[in-house]
Amino acid sequence: MSYECIVTDVQGSGPLRIGVVTLSRPKQLNALNDTLMNELGAALKAFDADETIGCMVVTGSEKAFAAGADIGAMAGWNFMDVYKSDYITRNWETIRSVRKPVIAAVSGFALGGGCELAMMCDFIIAADSAKFGQPEIKLGIIPGAGGTQRLPRAIGKAKAMDMVLTGRMMDAAEAERAGLVSRVVPAAELLSVTLAAAQAICEFGGPSVMMAKEAVNRAYEGPLSEGIQFERRMFHALFATEDQKEGMDAFVNKRKPAFKHR
Ligand code: CAA
Repeated sequence: MSYECIVTDVQGSGPLRIGVVTLSRPKQLNALNDTLMNELGAALKAFDADETIGCMVVTGSEKAFAAGADIGAMAGWNFMDVYKSDYITRNWETIRSVRKPVIAAVSGFALGGGCELAMMCDFIIAADSAKFGQPEIKLGIIPGAGGTQRLPRAIGKAKAMDMVLTGRMMDAAEAERAGLVSRVVPAAELLSVTLAAAQAICEFGGPSVMMAKEAVNRAYEGPLSEGIQFERRMFHALFATEDQKEGMDAFVNKRKPAFKHR
């Protein structure tokens, strides 16, 4: 499949491999326009449906993961244009319906919609060059792809308010201290470290990977008691899988498990 604004690739070895999507509008620092978001959604859905893919990676260029929604495209829109066409909801949120893990590998700018896109992924691995921010306030708007909701959940109210109200950028070290990213690595190692994490995920049992993602996401979407109840049912359900029998038998018999992803 060939795309205009993204490049897709399959990486890794073993029965389950890694679907990699590279955002590619270099002249616009990967500004997120409709074509790019439609293509990203289509590529992730295709990888999600592919039985040979176990995990996905979304990345950008060395200079920019994405510098935000495409300001040039938005500049002439009025309220009815965005409201009636359900801007953002109509295509940006496809990524939230992807059931396999998606890792964001972020180098350079992740601003506005770029930061929000990274936060829609399951976790973020950052290059030491990464810069995060929600500068929408400078444009007379506010974050519109979840930034006012996911950022406080990730880094707390104080820092989120600071970022959203001042529009300042946060470097990779601060982002890691604040809990926005899971790891910071030298820029040259960003892709290899991210692919190694994705490969590790591919080697675990598919049902437990999918249920783990679903259960952690519940932590953001309801009260603790319901999250715990959901986790407990997923945990119970995994005892119905072949991979649980295999994983525990392998441990007891001191051998490497051979998961069948069922
Ligand atoms: N949309 C469209 N084009 C963009 C863009 C964006 N978000 N960000 C950068 N570009 C373009 C620039 O216009 C420039 O194009 P030209 O060469 O044709 O002039 C090119 O990318 C390179 O950018 P700069 O020359 O500005 O590069 P720089 O290194 O000097 O600065 C930057 C980099 C700090 C990221 C700066 O480009 C910038 O501030 N970009 C805008 C960031 C922003 O405001 N993002 C939020 C967008 S709104 C949003 O995302 C809404 C939402 O929540 C969904």
